[in-house]
This record gives sequence, structure tokens and C-alpha cells, in this order.
Amino acid sequence: MQNPASNFHIGAKAPELNPEWLKPEDPFQGYFEVNTPAPETEELVRSRSASRWLRDIQMMMDHKAYLFQQTLSSKSGPSVFANNRDMYMLSSYDYLGLIGNQYIENATINAVRQYGTGTGGARMLAGTCLIHRQLETAIANFKNKEAAIVFPSGYVANLAAISTLIQKSDRIIIDELIHRSLIDALHMAQLDFEKCRHNDMAHLESLLEKPSTAKRTILIYEGIYSMEGDLCPLPEIVALKNKYGAILFMDDSHSLGVLGENGRGIDEHFGIPAHEIDVFTSSLSKALPGGGGFIATSKQAVIFMQHAAAPFVFSSAMSPANAAACLASFEVLEKEGPERIAKVFENAHYLIKHLNRLGYDTGTTESPIIPVIIGDREKTIKLSAKLYELGFLANPVIFPAVPPGGDRLRLCATAAQSKLMLDEVIFAFDIARSCLL
Ligand SMILES: Cc1ncc(COP(=O)(O)O)c(C=O)c1O
Repeated sequence: MQNPASNFHIGAKAPELNPEWLKPEDPFQGYFEVNTPAPETEELVRSRSASRWLRDIQMMMDHKAYLFQQTLSSKSGPSVFANNRDMYMLSSYDYLGLIGNQYIENATINAVRQYGTGTGGARMLAGTCLIHRQLETAIANFKNKEAAIVFPSGYVANLAAISTLIQKSDRIIIDELIHRSLIDALHMAQLDFEKCRHNDMAHLESLLEKPSTAKRTILIYEGIYSMEGDLCPLPEIVALKNKYGAILFMDDSHSLGVLGENGRGIDEHFGIPAHEIDVFTSSLSKALPGGGGFIATSKQAVIFMQHAAAPFVFSSAMSPANAAACLASFEVLEKEGPERIAKVFENAHYLIKHLNRLGYDTGTTESPIIPVIIGDREKTIKLSAKLYELGFLANPVIFPAVPPGGDRLRLCATAAQSKLMLDEVIFAFDIARSCLL
């Protein structure tokens, strides 16, 4: 659909704004009738979870406030085209503002011409291209690890790392807020684990002190936590890991490209040598504008995963386009990283400062992930709907993605946001406060 505003020029009559465009789009195309009871669950999906979702979706549709799955008809970035109008995007992970980067786009187009759109196989069999190998070398160098292995997503990389490198005979301790992909991986691999209170090092030590017959102890942490925006206390974790002879897995998804002077991640931020972290995993779709995930670790562990990690052996390879986008992104990061990182933090601090001034609770964030914690599901949805009406896309995150009472909007600062845009965001949050009363 064409942007009606794009043909507008001075002197011309302003295009009519359809009031429907001020409300979120209905991605279900009328499946939910407004102000009727939620649909009965079908045999196929009958479960408490399905009933709850249908009820919740019905409630949001009744209020014209279903804000998930909103469709963009443009690239993501600070401003997007959605539902027939230009809107500001406040929840894109594009921390470094690299979506739409010309160099990365050109490298990707060239790779499609060279390698095609699909690989025709799993990595283990017919699906390995030169560009995968080049990307793996670039990642290993960037992360200062012996080797790396890439997958079509960060979720799958976590699945591969945990199911291949961790055994039932291991004792596993995780931070209670680690990402769902890590939890799913532990469940799928039928591994038991103990939860440590979030970033609580005294609790971690008390768990490590307990006698155990396990052959190895595995710790699983995250660089930047995706819901809170806070960092793990890596120096303390490493000290405890060494004291108790544990092995450390670190999901670097939100810290890659963002933390440390050069964006190498949580280890660079704290000045901890990369060898102290046994296994790094990461998405390639947060600060880097690609799709994929990786594991960076020892050479021998990578060789083992090339033969034993189910997603490498039984699932199709990362597409050449994604591999090229990621490879080119690392090149851009090497050249422009420090400047872009400084900008994203400047924007994050500005937003946090002014949201706090308006009375919004941004929790414990120390990064470009900015939670706006409302603590009430309906108010969170209303706030998101009001911002939508004002022209801002801000994703609500509600139970069960966060514990009850943790309902929030999740904003992301990016290096591409201008000061003018941020001032408009702050003004919109000021106006939207009325819906929280
Ligand atoms: C901490 C963390 N790990 C892993 C993932 C999964 O990455 P991907 O989106 O590439 O599957 C995410 C995605 O949101 C994440 O936040």
C-alpha cells in the first residue's frame, strides 16, 4: 500500500486520515467479533493455555488494542510505514541503526547473486557455502575464541549448544531470568537445573557450595537481560566459576555489538579475557541486521557440534543472504562500532532520564533495552494503544512473558534515533500518562 502522505506537497490539500488507521490493525481479519464472548477452543488446541490466549486476545480486540503482530510495509528503523501511515518504531532491536545500511544491503544482494537464495541442504551435508565459513572465521576472531559455528537463529544456536555440550550427569545452575530459548533447550534435552536468583552472587555461591556428585557444574548467564536491560556481574561470576571449577555458558545476544568499546560483548565491557567464558552463544539479529545465531567456543567443541548438534545435521543451513548480511555487519562494526555504540548509549540515557522525569519506572536497565514498567496488564495495553494512536509503535510485554505484575512496554534505544525523534517520544509519553490514571 502506498503511503498517502508521500505524494503530499505544500499547497496541496492534506490527505484524509482514516480514523481506522489510528487503531492497530486486526491481524486476524475479523476472526474475533468485537464485544462477543471469546471463541470456544477447538478440539485441536484444547488446553488451559489456548483458552487463556483466546480470552486475552478477545479482550484486546474488544478494546481495539491488540498490538502484537503489527505489519510493517517498510524496513524497520526509527520510522516505519505501518497501517497506512508513517510511524515511529520504539521497539526494534536495531541497536546500532544498521537496518538499511547500504554496504550491508549490497553485500547481501551480491551474495544472493553468487550463492542463490537457498543452500539445498543442511550444513553437515550439501548446505555449507564459503560465506558460512567466512562468517564463522569472522565471529571466532571477533569473539577471541578458537572457532565458531553458525545456525539459522539464536534460538536454534542455544538449542544446539545445550543439547550437545551439556550432559544429564552435569549440575546446571541458571540465572532465573535467562531467555526462553535456553530454558526450552534445557527442557528439550531433559536436563534438570537449579535456578539462581537474578544476579544474586551470594545465592549463586550458596548453590555452588552444596555438595554434589555431578561430574561438572555448568553456569548459564546472559550478558544483557532481554526484559530488564541490566547486565550480569561477569567479574563475580567468573571468580565463582574459577573458585568452584565450573564451566560458563554466556548468551551474548543483546550485548554483542553493544557492550565494550568495540562491541565485542559483555567480556570486553568488563575487561574479562574471552577464555574465561567457555561457550558464547548469540543471536545475529539484534545489533546486527541479519538473521541467525552462533556458538563461539573451542575448536574441538565446534568439530563435535558439526557432527552431533541436531540443528547442524538435520536442519537446513542459514541462508546465504543472512550469512552475507552478518559478515558485512561485522565489517561495519569494526569500522563504525565505537561511534555507533556511543550514540546508542547517549540516546538510551536521554530517554531514561526523561521517562523517569515524567514518573515512568524504567527498572534497573543499564543498556539500550528500556523497560517501561506499568505492572498492570490492562494499563500496559491501554498505554501501548494510546501511543499507537499518537503514531508510536511500542511493544507491550505482558504475563506470561514476564511474571504477574511485571507488565511493561519494552523500548529500545538505537543509534539511528535523532534528538528530535526522542523529544517527540517523550512528549507522546507525557500525553499518554493520562491513560494510566
Ligand atoms: C537472550 C536471547 N537469546 C536468544 C534469543 C533468540 O535469538 P533469535 O531471535 O535469533 O532466535 C533471543 C531473542 O530474542 C534473546 O533475547
